[in-house]
Amino acid sequence: MSQIISKLQEDHKRMMVLIKIMDREIESFSNGGPFDYFLIETVLDYMRNFPDLCHHPTEDLVFERLKARDEKAGEIVGDLTAEHEELGELARWFSAALNSVQQDTTLPRDWFTARARDYREALAKHIQMEETLFFPAALSALTADDWKAVEAKALNKDDPLFGHKADREYRALHKVIVDWDKPASERA
Ligand SMILES: [Fe+2]
Ligand SMILES: [Fe+2]
Repeated sequence: MSQIISKLQEDHKRMMVLIKIMDREIESFSNGGPFDYFLIETVLDYMRNFPDLCHHPTEDLVFERLKARDEKAGEIVGDLTAEHEELGELARWFSAALNSVQQDTTLPRDWFTARARDYREALAKHIQMEETLFFPAALSALTADDWKAVEAKALNKDDPLFGHKADREYRALHKVIVDWDKPASERA
């Protein structure tokens, strides 16, 4: 399997972990419970600083090659680049809603959770489509030279959150991820 696709799948697994964290916070907020604004702001910041800079542009490169090799498969996948732009737009809406709700606690909870869910759902649906349609189509259509060309152009940046040691601004979120499946007694 192409190294590129394995890496993109690994990124997806990581994004699914972030979706679980968003779900927990959204659920709590919609039930009138606490909401960790800082944590969710960090999730959105990470999405802008890693997937938007490395993951989506790499997929766009793969998609260009797929369309050139197999026009029909490209059509079935749809407009991937536009979906990436739309995800960015939904993240900006979510981020703006997060700022508003922090400054004005009288804003309806439903209004905020709708913005949060729009983003969360679009991201999960997009990942699912790529895993079931886009990646299999790319794996069967792209040649070894195509993968080499993608590799040469793709931005190779270390993941600032999921690496062994997270960057300073992501440490609190990293700790939540590390502790996620641990019983409370084992958390540092
Ligand atoms: Fe994507
Ligand atoms: Fe993706």
